[in-house]
Amino acid sequence: MSEQKPQTGSEFILTFEDSADRVPVLMIHGFPLNNTMWDDQVASLAHVARLITPDLRGHGLTEATDISPYTMEMMATDCIHVLDSLDIDGPVVVAGLSMGGYIAFEICRRFPERVSGLILAATKASADTDEARANREASARMALDEGVHPVVSSLIPKLLAPAAYEDNPDLVEYLEEMMLSASAEGVAGAQLAMSLRPDSKGDLKYLQVPTLVVHGKEDQLIPVSEAEIMAEGIPGAKLELIEGAGHMVNMEEPEAFNEVVREFLVSFYDV
Ligand code: MLT
Repeated sequence: MSEQKPQTGSEFILTFEDSADRVPVLMIHGFPLNNTMWDDQVASLAHVARLITPDLRGHGLTEATDISPYTMEMMATDCIHVLDSLDIDGPVVVAGLSMGGYIAFEICRRFPERVSGLILAATKASADTDEARANREASARMALDEGVHPVVSSLIPKLLAPAAYEDNPDLVEYLEEMMLSASAEGVAGAQLAMSLRPDSKGDLKYLQVPTLVVHGKEDQLIPVSEAEIMAEGIPGAKLELIEGAGHMVNMEEPEAFNEVVREFLVSFYDV
């Protein structure tokens, strides 16, 4: 329920809405996207939660830094600084899609006291194979030498469920534009950060917070088996598989995604 509070001005009373008293949910975007990937969630869930949607360094409206490679620690700390700047010092629900999920695991390792719950979307706890690491290094070099275009072109065909490329060309175009707006330094830094990330599978059994694992049944980038590993490993975690969705599950099937997130928030938090 949204709340309206009176505010006393000198001559009249203003009413306003403020979501600061709702459960805070930090939503961390995937690679090489930005916080606009959460637009459907902001529109539909803002009345149950306080959604905080940063742009990671080098993505969206946040400048790149020239420190290369970035690390998961840097990006996790950046997100915590956003909470600090909002004076949110209590724990929050941390939601991450894909790379955002890798960062969520890092937040759990480094700042466990800041986490009251987890939403792990289209992500995995496993580290990269040697082959994946080498591909990321090549992709980082490509971004710096040739710009983000070739990196985006190679990613696009894997991001959505196969049928979406015919059925939903607007979404394909929208995603492509979003990714092309990332900076080359941001793309290279994030690729190298992902290549260096540790395996989080050993951490799963120690996670003590309510957790929702949500995954598109047609994810071409991260197989459903990775979602099952997380859901089996995290005590009490709930697994939701979304029909007809690929890797960008929250954008491809926003209603189904929002519904499982809403149910999760309603079951565990005071919303
Ligand atoms: C993402 O969607 O964030 C990335 O594609 C994840 C990855 O490359 O592992």
